[in-house]
Amino acid sequence: MKKNYKTAIGMMSGTSMDGIDACLLKIFDDFKFEILTNHTLNYPQEIREKLLNLANNKGSTHDICYMDFVVGRLFAKCANELIKKSGLKTKDVDYIATHGQTVFHTPKPETISEISTGATLQIGNISVIAENTGVTTVGNFRTRDIAAGGQGAPLVPFADEIMFGRKIPRCIQNIGGIANVTVLSPECETFAFDTGPGNMLIDYCMKKYFDLPYDKGGRIACSGIIDEDWLQILLDEPYYLHIPPKTTGRELFNDLYAEKILQNAPLDRKDIIATVTALSARTIFEAYKNFVFPKTQIQEIVLGGGGAYNRFLTGLLKKYFGNIPVKTHVDFNINDKLKEAIAFALLGYCTFERIPNNVPSCTGAKKKVIMGEIAY
Ligand SMILES: Nc1ncnc2c1ncn2[C@@H]1O[C@H](COP(=O)(O)OP(=O)(O)O)[C@@H](O)[C@H]1O
Ligand SMILES: [Mg+2]
Repeated sequence: MKKNYKTAIGMMSGTSMDGIDACLLKIFDDFKFEILTNHTLNYPQEIREKLLNLANNKGSTHDICYMDFVVGRLFAKCANELIKKSGLKTKDVDYIATHGQTVFHTPKPETISEISTGATLQIGNISVIAENTGVTTVGNFRTRDIAAGGQGAPLVPFADEIMFGRKIPRCIQNIGGIANVTVLSPECETFAFDTGPGNMLIDYCMKKYFDLPYDKGGRIACSGIIDEDWLQILLDEPYYLHIPPKTTGRELFNDLYAEKILQNAPLDRKDIIATVTALSARTIFEAYKNFVFPKTQIQEIVLGGGGAYNRFLTGLLKKYFGNIPVKTHVDFNINDKLKEAIAFALLGYCTFERIPNNVPSCTGAKKKVIMGEIAY
């Protein structure tokens, strides 16, 4: 009898560039899934620094080319470790779906020799992954949506619809390097956008002032005081008032941006962390007030991504949203750090089955397309 599921690995590394989150799961033909094992491979410091440089436009074609292969090897390593951990054999895995590592993403059209187009680049080469794992690998999802006139982002709403449905009006709020929301509701078409920085500015300041990669549990932010005057200045960023669909990334909230805003920062480094953390929470809240509440009365918020572990951030969100319950993916039996890896496994399933997998109401694409490229 033909089995009615595929055994898949989904792999994700987002704008935080902290490392690769991977999930091994069974995906059934009705899109139900069963998580088997997960694994995280943190990027070695040297890799993270090189990736941050590339994303900050400080890299040569030589660097991009080599890093494509090096990061591909790390994704393969992560997948191999995951398979080993699961007790399965390589041949039991039907495919790997990888987001890759974005080093550049600019959906805004630029015109070169009368050709006007957006562009995006995820490195972590799929042929390198296929070769080093022995598993068919699908990746480069964003390209096709951009080619179809979309922003190439956000792609996760496709999975949000599968995971949560649209019966209850909900916001699925991911807090990665950038914070992004998917609005699921019977009252409107699914829409999604980036609310602004998630952990990106927090991580930058943690590195600069504490020589730590991030604010574990939000403990440092909890020990500081929000500088309301500085927060007001930070909120004065035009991006926050742009009307969705909109996406952002290191192209805006990069090191230069961080250094610019830090010119007005308070003296106490703990207060700096508290205030940039408050910025993430406030911009999420303001975005809902401006762009979500006018369309649908949401009944709950579901947080995900590494920011869901930041107690200062989640505490502020609970305070701002008052009566609206703020939950996390764990309340739905999904690991908060794994959701996006699962999402890419689902997107990859569609690539193989030739099912269109972009959501044009979210990306702005002219039509539904099948995203993903395959290396056998
Ligand atoms: N235990 C934790 N406490 C606070 N913040 C955390 C924790 N774990 C992860 N993070 C934050 O989440 C980020 C990674 O989140 P992730 O969802 O992987 O984002 P991305 O998709 O951008 O890679 C880290 O850089 C860090 O800022
Ligand atoms: Mg990450």
